Amino acid sequence: MKYDFDEVISRKNTQSSKWDNVGSRIGNTEALPMWVADTDFRCPQPVVDAVKQRAEHVIYGYPYVASEFYDATISWVKRRHGWDIKREWILFTTGIVPVINTMIQAFTDVGDEVIIQEPVYHQFRVPIMDNERVISSNDLVYEGGRYSIDFDDLERRASNPRAKLMILCSPHNPVGRVWRHDELSRVSKICIAHGVIMISDEIHSDLVLNGNKHTPTGAIDERYAMNTVTCFAPSKTFNMAGLRGSGIVVPDSKIFVGLEAQFKKNKSIQQNVFAVPAYVAAYTKCDDYLEQLIPYIEDNVRYLDDFLKTNMPRIKLVQPESTYLAWLDCADLGISGSELSDFFINRCLVAISRGEQFGRNGTKFVRINIACPRVTLVDALDRILAQYK
Ligand SMILES: Cc1ncc(COP(=O)(O)O)c(C=O)c1O
Repeated sequence: MKYDFDEVISRKNTQSSKWDNVGSRIGNTEALPMWVADTDFRCPQPVVDAVKQRAEHVIYGYPYVASEFYDATISWVKRRHGWDIKREWILFTTGIVPVINTMIQAFTDVGDEVIIQEPVYHQFRVPIMDNERVISSNDLVYEGGRYSIDFDDLERRASNPRAKLMILCSPHNPVGRVWRHDELSRVSKICIAHGVIMISDEIHSDLVLNGNKHTPTGAIDERYAMNTVTCFAPSKTFNMAGLRGSGIVVPDSKIFVGLEAQFKKNKSIQQNVFAVPAYVAAYTKCDDYLEQLIPYIEDNVRYLDDFLKTNMPRIKLVQPESTYLAWLDCADLGISGSELSDFFINRCLVAISRGEQFGRNGTKFVRINIACPRVTLVDALDRILAQYK
């Protein structure tokens, strides 16, 4: 089927967090929503059909996770990422953030350290703090417009006996890196050497741009797989985050049992009736959507980059290798933190995500979500240009 990503679909008054919450969360109802990480594109038709078909059954009692969920996950991970996984490794959950939270509760104690790599998705930090654990940030190194990992610092942090867990963002939100084999191997080896369990959050792994190739951490080596909880989901790829369904791959049976037991203890594993039918449709019938979506996002990235270089050279795009989230280096504007977000939100009327939300080393950056029809991106850039001096 042919999809038209130029189509503008109003999301106002649909209880959309991105569009209807912009006043209360961002503080300006006039600001164009370019913040929450979902897309403004229609969902693939097979997903829409699956939801409609389930809705039309007219009874919405308690569901269970049917075998189609496991088959769809095995098939997708093999087809798209070349990794053979087994049915007994897979756990259904209602999202990735609940997995992070539950892993922290199951495998760390109050006061233990959890390693993250800032700047990073803020919901890595929040559950660590909420559970009274300690953040240990192996800050990414920013050099020549590109991010990399400081492995010596990571080794130091992992060797602290209080470090129990590492959350890897692969590919990385917001800096857009697709980690290479050698980088993933070094991270895994360090974690294994120091008894640190790894969560590999691969929610963005389908949206890899410009010929880059994503490799699941666990696919590289069986030893890495046995130390890793890998998080997949169709939510970003197919714009269905509101349906709450994700597939978690846990080859080590002790980690699997510990994670599942904590979920049961929290009484937080029950899904809604639409989650599994939609998930199965996404992972079995929607490859054609993804194949059209990637070039559209690549074109938006190119448009953004060209526009900045031509018209606003003091705002620089950190070239994303993955995701539809553009990380903009605004250091040359000479403002940072709240002044910088005030410029974008209240002067330009563009609702960006504040850079410091992703860590202390994000204060001179903003994140802009470019998963929108081109006209919306053009509108956002024209708004910024009108205030750029
Ligand atoms: C890296 C990463 N992990 C997890 C999530 C959210 O996961 P979920 O909605 O499945 O809890 C996001 C959303 O932006 C994300 O960027």
